[in-house]
Amino acid sequence: MNLETLILAAGKGTRMKSKLPKVLHKVCGKPMLQYVIEAAKRTGSKREVVVIGSGAELVEKTFSGVVEFAVQEEQLGTGHAVLSAKKNFAESKGTLLILCGDTPLLTSKLLKDFTAAHEKSNCAATVLTADMPDATGYGRVLHENNGTFKKIVEEKDANDEQKKIREVNSGVYCFDVQKLFAALEKVGNNNAQGEYYLPDVLPILKAEGNKVGVFKAEYCIETIGINTRSQLAAADKAIRMRKEQALMEAGITIIDPNTTFIEDTVKIGQDTIIRPNTYIEGNTVIGEDCEIGPNVRLTDMKVGNKVKVQFSYCHEAEILDGVTLGPYVHIRPGTTIGQNVKIGNFVEIKNSNIGEGSKLPHLQYIGDTDVGSNVNVGCGTVTCNYDGKKKYRTTIGDNAFIGCNTNLVAPVKVEDGAYIAAGSTITKDVPKDNLAVARSRQVNIAVWDDKRK
Ligand code: UD1
Ligand code: CA
Repeated sequence: MNLETLILAAGKGTRMKSKLPKVLHKVCGKPMLQYVIEAAKRTGSKREVVVIGSGAELVEKTFSGVVEFAVQEEQLGTGHAVLSAKKNFAESKGTLLILCGDTPLLTSKLLKDFTAAHEKSNCAATVLTADMPDATGYGRVLHENNGTFKKIVEEKDANDEQKKIREVNSGVYCFDVQKLFAALEKVGNNNAQGEYYLPDVLPILKAEGNKVGVFKAEYCIETIGINTRSQLAAADKAIRMRKEQALMEAGITIIDPNTTFIEDTVKIGQDTIIRPNTYIEGNTVIGEDCEIGPNVRLTDMKVGNKVKVQFSYCHEAEILDGVTLGPYVHIRPGTTIGQNVKIGNFVEIKNSNIGEGSKLPHLQYIGDTDVGSNVNVGCGTVTCNYDGKKKYRTTIGDNAFIGCNTNLVAPVKVEDGAYIAAGSTITKDVPKDNLAVARSRQVNIAVWDDKRK
């Protein structure tokens, strides 16, 4: 079959009360329009055209190179939106799948069944409907006495009797592309909203002697449209549950899916365990056999295998195999934590490399630093990387031992095997295997107490 797709995404999204175009609001980490585009592509669509209008520039920028665009200068309704893309389909033949940019839960399974049913039916148009427990805000589907499709009545145009109907228009349609554009010219705007409604093209096609079919989705959740922030939250939860279900099916343990927030973009390896109150976001990739959580937030992280993280926040950084992190660690952008490193108990690391097997177990700030392998960084060590104007790097060689409460004033280098005495403020490089003591010598004054008397 020759299937092309048109996605309507020019609307203002007034009910969202937002500065951001509605279709760019994120659902489980991705703009809602992205789900619709991906579902269309997985359905076997050969081409996707997106109608843009409100916030057009931003929508175009987000999806440039992924889809084609048609511009609807003024938002005069869904029928008008489709007409704005007329020239994009001047040469097209076959089926045009129409989707709305605000229905992110659509699955390609449903769309495949729907388009296949349309192709088989010899209908000029088929509308995807669903029985909604709460149909408020949707167009209601009216049938003839013989059960065939009659028309769709928008909520704002419906009488009390029609408002009781639970079968709604999902905003998804298949059309014979050339018949659609011919009939669309005849759609008027004599309705409560003064808009050109796309569903009004259906009775017109019928009156011209075409068959119009109805295909009801089995699960109404897949067709929900997002018009408000509370519907956004509901969609977010539904996609999150879908994602977590897929992860569990792939061999990942999620102790409590209800208190775990994994964005759709995230990848996790087999036999990793995710504990409650954990947020895994953006382009985070986690390996196998890890234990993540409780109370962890990972954003755009690359995490190896057998990594354990608890009560911590890590973003835009990399953690290699066998690392133990937490509790209370903040790993900031530009950091690489080497294999089998241990970091825990109130430690912040920024733009640094920590070599294999090193230990940073208590109360450290490490910024702009290269730490070698098997280094022991004592409790309370601070790299002084900022002089008020510029940032400088600190280098610590392999097998070095940094005593407790050390200040390393950058730029400074502690060479391999060097020792730093506790309480030192290091301002000069320390040669290989040397002991640096940079504090005043202790003086014990025996008469001190007598004098006071
Ligand atoms: C629409 C349908 C309704 C259906 C519901 C399903 C119409 C008239 N109504 O209502 O029957 O039950 O979807 O979710 O079609 N858009 C444009 N240009 C416009 C207006 C809208 O591109 O001028 C886009 C929007 O960005 C949105 C989609 O079309 O992605 C649907 O518009 P929306 O205003 O959300 O329509 P509903 O009131 O939900
Ligand atoms: Ca809508």
